[in-house]
Amino acid sequence: MATTETNVTKPARNQSAADPLAAGMPAAGLTPSPGPSTVAVHGGEARQKVGDAITDAIFCASTYTFEDTKSIIDFIENDEQREEYGRYGNPGERVAERKLAALEGAETSVLYSSGMAAFVGLLTAKLSAGDEVIFFDECYHRSREFCNKHLSRFGVKTLQVKTGDYAAMEAAITPATRMLISESPTNPHQSCIDLERFVEVGRRNEVETLIDATLATPYNLRPIEAGVDYVLHSATKYLGGHNDLLAGVVAGSNSQLESVRNLRGIMGAVNGPQNIYLLLRGLKTFELRMQRHNDNGLAVAQFLESHPRVEKVYYPGLESHRDHEVAKRTMRGYGGLVTFLIKDADWRATANVVDSTQICRIAPSLGGVETLIEQPLVMSYYKCTPEERERFGIDDNMIRLACGIENTEDLIADLAQALDA
Ligand SMILES: Cc1ncc(COP(=O)(O)O)c(C=O)c1O
Repeated sequence: MATTETNVTKPARNQSAADPLAAGMPAAGLTPSPGPSTVAVHGGEARQKVGDAITDAIFCASTYTFEDTKSIIDFIENDEQREEYGRYGNPGERVAERKLAALEGAETSVLYSSGMAAFVGLLTAKLSAGDEVIFFDECYHRSREFCNKHLSRFGVKTLQVKTGDYAAMEAAITPATRMLISESPTNPHQSCIDLERFVEVGRRNEVETLIDATLATPYNLRPIEAGVDYVLHSATKYLGGHNDLLAGVVAGSNSQLESVRNLRGIMGAVNGPQNIYLLLRGLKTFELRMQRHNDNGLAVAQFLESHPRVEKVYYPGLESHRDHEVAKRTMRGYGGLVTFLIKDADWRATANVVDSTQICRIAPSLGGVETLIEQPLVMSYYKCTPEERERFGIDDNMIRLACGIENTEDLIADLAQALDA
């Protein structure tokens, strides 16, 4: 029992990327590069857990006890690794952080209560008044809103350049530039970033880089291996995978994330223990789910592209996509998100297609087992002016489909009947 407790209460917070399972799993010696499912199932976990249970325990504790005054002083003076107070994290969170770092191929990761908390936490930890950030303009609208409306209030300047214009990004760099930011693929147009070029611009100018790889996941894209400094995910999406939790994560190096982890302890944007359990459980099937999301996304995109009522499909796995070559070179698969335009349709006719689906559920979000469908004009951009929507590339006849893990032929049949309705 003593060994078990040691494993749980003294997790290695700063594991090395050299250990792919990042918690000394027995398979590590046998398999130098375990596959994504082996990492998803075993990575970051102690071999022997509390109560000898195969699953990690849920610790419903807001605070953690010390045996006596000496043990508090030892903890502080020796920087001992154990829990102290819930705002600084909990045992489940350490496991999830190690597992996510192992999946990402990063030294460490910092888990947050949502993807936006991760974005706000990272940027506020890294930026000060007078600094500048530059981001590619196709991005999640709340990330853009945080940069434009809120960072500016603290004296941080944000500049946007056209997605994929590396020369414009480099030209916009000044001595005050601290971070280059992009999503890949972007949402909803699914532009794919050439990570080598992006990293090159950052390194040449000694500016850090951040990729929000929520749509790709570490299964489909490897930004850390390409040299990106920070990789961010809304774990609410594919990592959690079941549309039943909110979480966010930033992966990177121990030294670069130290200040980020410290600020999170002050922000308190941590996950509750039950939420962490759901995330850990969801992650076990990560690779299996991603394979089905990838298969469904590609098959549905191909079906839509051949349908007479469809004007255009945005999916990086299609040869017709502007960034297909980059995607083919850098991605293992192309994910479940498919964006398409209905031919000769106004917003009402487009809404009719959405409303006519019977398996797809109408909701925002993506990456869960249930297929979700939405019309961006109505769901996220309803209050924007037509000029703003044009600037963001949100067409009246656009539909965003986030393929779940249902059987491919059923999803295609559902879309076929909705397009005929
Ligand atoms: C690409 C991307 N990044 C970040 C976020 C924010 O994540 P969360 O909803 O978990 O805060 C989202 C949410 O939709 C997203 O699509």
